[in-house]
Amino acid sequence: MIFTSAFIAASLPFIAALPTPLKVSRGLPIPLSKRDAARRADDGSLLTVCSKVHRGIAAYEVNTGATHSLASLVSTPLVKRQAGSGGDILTDDQQVLWFGTIQVGTPPVQYTVDFDTGSSDLFLPGPTCGTTCSNHTVYNPASSSTSSDLGKTFSLAYGDGSTVSGKQFTDVVAISGSTATNQTLGSANQYSSGFQSPNFPADGLMGMGFPSISVYGANPVFQTLVASGVITEPVFSFKLATEGSELFIGGTDANLFTGNFTFVNVTQQGYWQVEMDALTVNGQNVIPIAQTSSIIDTGTTLIVGDTQTVATAYRSIQGATDNGDGTYTVPCNATPNLSLTFGGRSFSVDPATFILGSSSGATTGCIGGLSYNDAIAGQFWIIGDVFLQNVYTQFDVGKGQVGFAALSSSSIHEGVTCKIEVVDEVPRD
Ligand SMILES: *[C@@H]1O[C@H](CO)[C@@H](O)[C@H](O)[C@H]1NC(C)=O
Ligand SMILES: *[C@@H]1O[C@H](CO)[C@@H](O)[C@H](O)[C@H]1NC(C)=O
Ligand SMILES: *[C@@H]1O[C@H](CO)[C@@H](O)[C@H](O)[C@H]1NC(C)=O
Ligand SMILES: *[C@@H]1O[C@H](CO)[C@@H](O)[C@H](O)[C@H]1NC(C)=O
Ligand SMILES: *[C@@H]1O[C@H](CO)[C@@H](O)[C@H](O)[C@H]1NC(C)=O
Repeated sequence: MIFTSAFIAASLPFIAALPTPLKVSRGLPIPLSKRDAARRADDGSLLTVCSKVHRGIAAYEVNTGATHSLASLVSTPLVKRQAGSGGDILTDDQQVLWFGTIQVGTPPVQYTVDFDTGSSDLFLPGPTCGTTCSNHTVYNPASSSTSSDLGKTFSLAYGDGSTVSGKQFTDVVAISGSTATNQTLGSANQYSSGFQSPNFPADGLMGMGFPSISVYGANPVFQTLVASGVITEPVFSFKLATEGSELFIGGTDANLFTGNFTFVNVTQQGYWQVEMDALTVNGQNVIPIAQTSSIIDTGTTLIVGDTQTVATAYRSIQGATDNGDGTYTVPCNATPNLSLTFGGRSFSVDPATFILGSSSGATTGCIGGLSYNDAIAGQFWIIGDVFLQNVYTQFDVGKGQVGFAALSSSSIHEGVTCKIEVVDEVPRD
């Protein structure tokens, strides 16, 4: 993810803004919390998303010495939307963030992290983070007998100017009962506003992409677990929903899906990059390219595509208006049938997950879950939580593939349109 400051600036009056537990499991599920946050449109999480992509590609090239196939697509500097043009239309846009717990250090201290398949590094607030990390649990390497200073700094920058920087360490990281020893992680000495409380409900962020996009040049936590043999099935799976969300480490949770998985191969291991066959709105395919590169990203809320295709998609939705900032406003009671096809199988997006929340400003209505960004220029898409809430998704590190299955009926999310529900933790036995 890495929504950071983009998200976040404003709290909706009707959001209790209570972080809600999500569970993580491993062969064991981890409860994931869902927290509804709000953001402003002025900086735009879309820019943040693309900045993240850009950073990942730079890391890929440094790490592999190869040119990433997407590099040319994102080399255009991101231009911030001009202030005043279109106004802050999205002040009430709702965003959703899922997080769960990990334990770090010796003795272990528990932290909440946002699990992000769109990046590959882990960071937590460090002891010198000061007020920028207020209300977050701090990771203090000096208090952990297993910490080791790598003598390297790190700095992650986001499209809206938000940053995380600090020092790299290795330490013991446990997730859902599996322990990664000698895991590289960042101890931040500064959080910009996007990661600050109350904008960011988790303490830190854990990347779950491939090592080639690690800015640290290190194995992400999951790969460390696999490499050390702690996890035998090199697969992790997500259910992201308003209820019973779960990250499952080391396989899939049979309780949460039904029927078979449909798999798509990762075409380039960096992001979870696969080919999307079609995107239909009310039965009509709008993507002009049969195999459109797509990044499956739990850390991005929206589906992000190119301007032209997204405009075509919204033409089928009555009352949709372009906000000029990458998003569209749609009537809050719209019920478009948006479907994405992967591996020859079509998966529909429930209107309840497509409609994001009311906007304010020039146009009233709700925000549509499909957004555009010129920086990706019709060449690849980012498939975020608006889609992922509708499927059970497995990320197979061993085979380099992503599998989608139908959510089991007992686990399907409750519909929410223009309002927010708080999720209760679901204990697992
Ligand atoms: C721990 O990881 C660091 C950085 O990846 C590496 O330099 C070091 O050799 C590792 N130590 C052990 C004991 O594996
Ligand atoms: C930290 O939490 C307290 C209590 O909830 C709150 O009053 C305070 O504003 C928070 N500080 C920050 C920087 O978010
Ligand atoms: C699942 O796959 C198996 C084996 O390929 C097949 O026999 C079965 O019909 C499939 N089930 C569904 C519900 O598609
Ligand atoms: C996916 O990759 C595997 C192994 O490389 C290959 O056997 C399979 O045919 C590929 N599937 C598709 C749909 O391309
Ligand atoms: C939505 O569109 C998909 C793809 O065209 C189709 O398979 C599905 O039946 C549609 N769902 C509804 C409820 O119309």
